[in-house]
Amino acid sequence: MVPLGPLPGACWTPLISLLLVYCLLPPGSQGQKFLLEVEPKDLVVPAGGSLLVNCSTQCPNPELISLETFLPKKPVGNGPGWAAFWLSNVTVDSKVLCSGFCNGSQMASSSNITVYRFPKHVELASMSPWKPVGKNLTLRCLVTGGAPRTHLSVLLLRGEEVLSRQLAVGEPAEVTATVLVSRNDHGANFSCRTELDLRPQGLGLFQNNSAPSHLRTFVLPVMPPRLIVPRFLEVGTSWLVDCTLDGLFPASEAQVQLALGDQVLNPEVSSQGDTLKATATVTANTELEGTRKIVCNVTLGGESQETQENLTIYSFWGPIMNLSETIRNLSEPTVLEGTTVNVTCAAGARVQVMLDGAPAVTPGQLALLQLNVTQKDDKRSIFCNATLEVDGMVLHRNRSVQLRVLYGPKIDPAKCPQHFTWKDRTTQVLQCQASGNPVPQLQCLHKVSKVPVPVGVPFRVTLKHNGTYYCWAVNSQGTYNITVVINVQARNRNPLTITIIMAVFVTLGFLIVTAALVYVFRGRSDIYRVNRGNNFLPLKSKQPDEALGQQPS
Ligand SMILES: *[C@@H]1O[C@H](CO)[C@@H](O)[C@H](O)[C@H]1NC(C)=O
Ligand SMILES: *[C@@H]1O[C@H](CO)[C@@H](O)[C@H](O)[C@H]1NC(C)=O
Ligand SMILES: *[C@@H]1O[C@H](CO)[C@@H](O)[C@H](O)[C@H]1NC(C)=O
Ligand SMILES: *[C@@H]1O[C@H](CO)[C@@H](O)[C@H](O)[C@H]1NC(C)=O
Ligand SMILES: *[C@@H]1O[C@H](CO)[C@@H](O)[C@H](O)[C@H]1NC(C)=O
Ligand SMILES: *[C@@H]1O[C@H](CO)[C@@H](O)[C@H](O)[C@H]1NC(C)=O
Ligand SMILES: *[C@@H]1O[C@H](CO)[C@@H](O)[C@H](O)[C@H]1NC(C)=O
Ligand SMILES: *[C@@H]1O[C@H](CO)[C@@H](O)[C@H](O)[C@H]1NC(C)=O
Ligand SMILES: *[C@@H]1O[C@H](CO)[C@@H](O)[C@H](O)[C@H]1NC(C)=O
Ligand SMILES: *[C@@H]1O[C@H](CO)[C@@H](O)[C@H](O)[C@H]1NC(C)=O
Ligand SMILES: *[C@@H]1O[C@H](CO)[C@@H](O)[C@H](O)[C@H]1NC(C)=O
Ligand SMILES: *[C@@H]1O[C@H](CO)[C@@H](O)[C@H](O)[C@H]1NC(C)=O
Repeated sequence: MVPLGPLPGACWTPLISLLLVYCLLPPGSQGQKFLLEVEPKDLVVPAGGSLLVNCSTQCPNPELISLETFLPKKPVGNGPGWAAFWLSNVTVDSKVLCSGFCNGSQMASSSNITVYRFPKHVELASMSPWKPVGKNLTLRCLVTGGAPRTHLSVLLLRGEEVLSRQLAVGEPAEVTATVLVSRNDHGANFSCRTELDLRPQGLGLFQNNSAPSHLRTFVLPVMPPRLIVPRFLEVGTSWLVDCTLDGLFPASEAQVQLALGDQVLNPEVSSQGDTLKATATVTANTELEGTRKIVCNVTLGGESQETQENLTIYSFWGPIMNLSETIRNLSEPTVLEGTTVNVTCAAGARVQVMLDGAPAVTPGQLALLQLNVTQKDDKRSIFCNATLEVDGMVLHRNRSVQLRVLYGPKIDPAKCPQHFTWKDRTTQVLQCQASGNPVPQLQCLHKVSKVPVPVGVPFRVTLKHNGTYYCWAVNSQGTYNITVVINVQARNRNPLTITIIMAVFVTLGFLIVTAALVYVFRGRSDIYRVNRGNNFLPLKSKQPDEALGQQPS
């Protein structure tokens, strides 16, 4: 910094020359009549700017009016009592001094030059966009440059609300403010502003703003989310998984992740107030078999809360029972008597099956029962019980089939007597039953006449039923016959005897009545009444006649 244009005879160093000027002026000797004035007073210039300084005096014959300064200066003119200088490239605050002589005595006057410049950077220290509610947020503003600092204030703002106002101190100047974050700060804009107040200098108030910082606040509860999942899920079934978290702010901005194993589920997310709810459907399929972790993870403000549950997916189909040798197209499993039938029962891997009467098998294996089918197996129910153990839970599932056995007809002699002795004109039942599946048709035909006789229903026996019969039982599986002999006994004498006895009775009765009438008509006149009563007698006597006729049947 070599000053330009030093005064002749002045010291080389401007500082020394300035000091010298002061030293040369004894305090009392400066109180002369004429003053030297510096125009303008209190110079304020923008950094790097220029200005005109005019030193003037009322002294009639001033001499050697000059300007002492560090700054580059250029005389721009002078006249009687004044001299003007152009100062350029003013970058730092400095002092200028006008000096001169009037009638041999020295005059001097000084003025300060204040340089002003706007801050180069006004910056709000970067802060994380999410802040938890209830924590202190420290805002830091950094200001570089800017002068004069005595007029430069730094303000921290929430919106337009001033949180802090301080003078800029230091380079860079740092200003901080602490804010207790509340829910209301969600979405608030924070910023930093500088104010260079040059209003006293007649220049105005200059503001510079930092870029605003958008704050998002959040509340993530310490409680993990509530996850509702079943412990077990069977392959082929679905379940609505439900994950809920309360006390979340702002719930609508939280992210939820639901995953089953490494499969990400796409939950449907809804929020109401401070509650967030995510639901997703889990469909159990065979690829997911086993114990899987199901995770619900709620993320808000860069923090997350997570809940895990175990879900065991198992497959338990069946048990499925199969019978070999069955006849097709029948709704029930039907087999022929005498065949060997394989009954099998199977269920999913790891399922233990137990089949009635079959040897025990290990889990996952098929159980086999070989059955030599007899008539007795008709309508037999065969049970198969399946048991699955998953993670300590025991599940049961049972099936049964009812076996139908087809077999040919048979007539059990015990249920079908082969000899009957009946009386003529009596009502009888030919009891005879045939077994077989399907139920056989039973028919008894006369050996010679081929006339059928009713079987199992009452019928009136006549002599023509006498004879030998073939009884046939027929079903789809075959025929069976037995011989039945019916011996019909004729009732040749008995009816005749009854007729004779009756004739005797009737004759006897007739004789008695006749005798009585004769006696009565001859004796009295009021006999008619008695007569009437007697009229009933012949009617009454007929009844025993009928009864006698029926009795032998
Ligand atoms: C300096 O001041 C004097 C007296 O006030 C004036 O006459 C003169 O014009 C001024 N010079 C300039 C360059 O302003
Ligand atoms: C102003 O001064 C600075 C150093 O003080 C210098 O670097 C610059 O070149 C000067 N500018 C002019 C226009 O003289
Ligand atoms: C200048 O000073 C001399 C004496 O030193 C004095 O006589 C004279 O009057 C002064 N002139 C003015 C204009 O004051
Ligand atoms: C210039 O500045 C100094 C301090 O740096 C102060 O004492 C003085 O009064 C100022 N002069 C003017 C004319 O403002
Ligand atoms: C926040 O800061 C204030 C002082 O600025 C202090 O009193 C308060 O305890 C702090 N609160 C928390 C939660 O840190
Ligand atoms: C929750 O999910 C987020 C985002 O995917 C992840 O960054 C975070 O690590 C998860 N949290 C846990 C505990 O796994
Ligand atoms: C899930 O299963 C694992 C091991 O299989 C066990 O360590 C863990 O505690 C289980 N988690 C839950 C929530 O039951
Ligand atoms: C029944 O099972 C036995 C033993 O497994 C087998 O040898 C036979 O061929 C099977 N019979 C039928 C009809 O499937
Ligand atoms: C079934 O009959 C076969 C011969 O026909 C015999 O070898 C087998 O032992 C019988 N099985 C049963 C269970 O009676
Ligand atoms: C299968 O279950 C049924 C009914 O639960 C039971 O009556 C039967 O004894 C069981 N059979 C076997 C072989 O466990
Ligand atoms: C009935 O038939 C048997 C022979 O089957 C015969 O001996 C008997 O005389 C017959 N009885 C009558 C009344 O015809
Ligand atoms: C009647 O059955 C016997 C065996 O019980 C058989 O020998 C006979 O041939 C059968 N009669 C007819 C006509 O089928």
